[in-house]
Amino acid sequence: MDATFAPSGPLKGRLTPPADKSISHRAAMVGAMATEPVTVTNYLAAEDTLSTLRAMGTIGALPSREGSTVVIRGVGLRAPDAHGETIDVGNAGTLMRLLPGWLAGQEGRSFRFDGDASIRRRPVDRIAVPLRLMGANIEATDDRLPPFTVHGTQLQGITYELPVASAQVKSCVLLAGMMAHGDTTVIEPVPSRDHTERLLSRLGVPLWRTGDAITVGHVDELTVEDIRVPGDLSSAAFPIVAGVLVKGSRLLIEGVNVNWTRAGILNVLERMGAVVIGEREERVDGAVPGEEPIADLDVAHGPLRGTTVEAAEVPLVIDELPLVALLGCFAEGETVVRGAEELKHKESDRIATVVDGLRGLGAHIEATDDGFVVQGGTGIRGGTIHAHGDHRLAMLGAVAGLASREGVTVVGMEAAEVSYPGFGEHVARLQRA
Ligand code: S3P
Repeated sequence: MDATFAPSGPLKGRLTPPADKSISHRAAMVGAMATEPVTVTNYLAAEDTLSTLRAMGTIGALPSREGSTVVIRGVGLRAPDAHGETIDVGNAGTLMRLLPGWLAGQEGRSFRFDGDASIRRRPVDRIAVPLRLMGANIEATDDRLPPFTVHGTQLQGITYELPVASAQVKSCVLLAGMMAHGDTTVIEPVPSRDHTERLLSRLGVPLWRTGDAITVGHVDELTVEDIRVPGDLSSAAFPIVAGVLVKGSRLLIEGVNVNWTRAGILNVLERMGAVVIGEREERVDGAVPGEEPIADLDVAHGPLRGTTVEAAEVPLVIDELPLVALLGCFAEGETVVRGAEELKHKESDRIATVVDGLRGLGAHIEATDDGFVVQGGTGIRGGTIHAHGDHRLAMLGAVAGLASREGVTVVGMEAAEVSYPGFGEHVARLQRA
């Protein structure tokens, strides 16, 4: 589906963004680990997280959904079984990388995973390596790609140093760690989103952080309390950036998760001189909090200056880096992103697709091995951009169009459904208000 986004007048009003995708995936999985029914409110009813509910059904849980309320009747920590059926993860990389951690600990049972064309290009060796060290047997296509099969076993705890900061890999090892004999420790090169740690900690799982190391102990049974999912800052970032870029805009974005391991985009916006007011969680070292902090963000249009995002900040803003490229087009001076090779392994190769896509709209942007460099101040002319089946690229094109001189047509706008159903209506509502 093609959609055209014309240069926009001021965006005004209040907006509640969709529920957090990362937390919805995790809520569905821990719900399936319980034996008592778990109610998840404000669950994200988007393609990716519906794939997770279906996957929980495939392994024996009974999820039922009415709107954004999901009740999961779980199978218990040690009884999931797909009975030979393939677990279809659709387009959901988080599901594909987290669930094998739990299932690798299911002695004597095997689980085959597959997904869409984009998923078949996304590596799983990063989770296979630590899971094999814990004792699991994993067979992958070319030893690194889906479809792949996890043969469960009694796992042993390990200490694993992540070669690249990745919340998905960290979470996979922590979930496997709950199933293992002894303690399991994951060491991160730099902090990445900590939703798994917060959720497990809230549920009473023995879990602690010492510097860069997170340790989880063996768990026999999981008691899961009801979960309320906060708004997704990664989705909210699209209207936020639209509000910053479109002249005369003023928006209130309500109920957003401002967990400091997710809120890197707010720091980047602040350095660029954008006006985004709202309380943010301060970085805390040591104990793992059990809750996710929520805030309302007040956004206004204003002038921007270029900034640099270095490797240590990348995991805190990984999904918003396409938007940083767009912001850079409108900022005075240069905007640089370094240490972000991980972008190549997202729903598309986001160094190539963002650079080629924005360049086609008139941006002065160059790809580097590990990011990109934008020469700013020229804004966006307009034109056509392809989503390449990548939800964040589709919405990037839409926001570029609103802030452009001539408008932008997005080819493949339906990709936005993966994380932000109703994105187009939200934009239209802000234009009318
Ligand atoms: C996610 C972690 C990030 C992010 C992805 C969701 C998660 O991936 O890009 O959209 O929910 O854990 P990596 O941690 O692998 O970089």
